[in-house]
Amino acid sequence: ATHNLLLLPGDGIGPEIMTEVKKVISWFNARGGDTFETDEGLAGGSAYDAHGQAISDGDMAKAMASDAVIFGAVGGPKWDSVPYDVRPEAGLLRLRKDMELFANLRPAICYPALADASSLKKEIIEGLDILILRELTGGVYFGEPKEITDLGNGQKRGVDTQVYDTYEIERIAKAAFELARTRDGKVTSMEKRNVMKSGVLWNEVVTATHKNGYEDIELEHMLADAGGMQLVRWPKQFDVIVTDNLFGDMLSDVAAMLTGSLGMLPSASLGAQDAKTGKRKALYEPVHGSAPDIAGTGAANPIAMIASFGMALRYSFELAAEADMLDKAIANALDKGLRTKDIALDGDKTITTVEMGNAIIAELDAL
Ligand code: NAI
Ligand code: MG
Repeated sequence: ATHNLLLLPGDGIGPEIMTEVKKVISWFNARGGDTFETDEGLAGGSAYDAHGQAISDGDMAKAMASDAVIFGAVGGPKWDSVPYDVRPEAGLLRLRKDMELFANLRPAICYPALADASSLKKEIIEGLDILILRELTGGVYFGEPKEITDLGNGQKRGVDTQVYDTYEIERIAKAAFELARTRDGKVTSMEKRNVMKSGVLWNEVVTATHKNGYEDIELEHMLADAGGMQLVRWPKQFDVIVTDNLFGDMLSDVAAMLTGSLGMLPSASLGAQDAKTGKRKALYEPVHGSAPDIAGTGAANPIAMIASFGMALRYSFELAAEADMLDKAIANALDKGLRTKDIALDGDKTITTVEMGNAIIAELDAL
């Protein structure tokens, strides 16, 4: 099959790391089997400079029609004072909203070669491979009322509201069970049903969804605070963790730091399955931002970006063997001691963005 990708490199190091992904895409195209057609657009500050919007309607339409969007990173000091609704992040927010990307996948994987570099004990993280699934379009970040009111007595009141409807919990639970089926078959659902009504409903709906066709998957419930503790104490007990927007934001950042540098962390955001085609809208991006402090210096680590394309192979195109190949190529490059600056220890020789990209291609060739 041929898959259509929209590449949105963005700003800062975005274009530099996207260049390395393009090499990987070309490598898979040359290999035969499934192929990828790419189109490219502007997002963030570069889109604002070109047409005064953080993403143009034309590129937005291309994103909606694509099989997957591969996104770099946006933002930078150059655009610090542009109007709020056209600031660089607005491009990403519009993509998430219009594509209804309600499921955010954040893997925490520890490549063996980097286990020693972690601040945690080696046995805790060596071989770690877990996936945090964060609900992305609901919960306390969006619930109404959301306001600051003046109480008139010198006091103000800040209000955010946590809201979850059954359908929102059901679709993220289904996504969790389906992802677990392609992995180790276990889902841990985290909420705070002891103090939150939305947590009680979350627990009920996840349990009911499990009974409805997913009983082959092991389901466990954990209070989110205890879950945070367990995540640091013994993360290998988990396979897929599914949780709401707020807890997911925090737990995925904690999990990220189990495994080291921002430059290593990919992510995916998925939408609902189309009833006719079975396809999901999807956007793949590194967790890190546009790193303006190192843009143009060749110091950017392209692995998070390349591994994000690997997630597209796995989760949008069901190319698990190809995704495994790419992971193996990354692991082999790291095993040879190749390090960009962000993952180097004192005394390590470092290589550039382009050299790391080329090394991963060489490892693909060698597989
Ligand atoms: P950042 O993630 O861009 O950088 C944080 C630190 O990590 C910096 O020291 C940077 O050099 C380093 N770093 C990040 N990615 C790296 C890579 N691939 N290789 C090597 N080192 C890497 O976060 P920061 O500095 O808070 O934000 C910079 C800009 O990025 C801001 O304009 C911010 O709004 C934007 N941003 C965009 C995101 C997105 O597009 N999804 C997400 C986060 C921030
Ligand atoms: Mg966060």
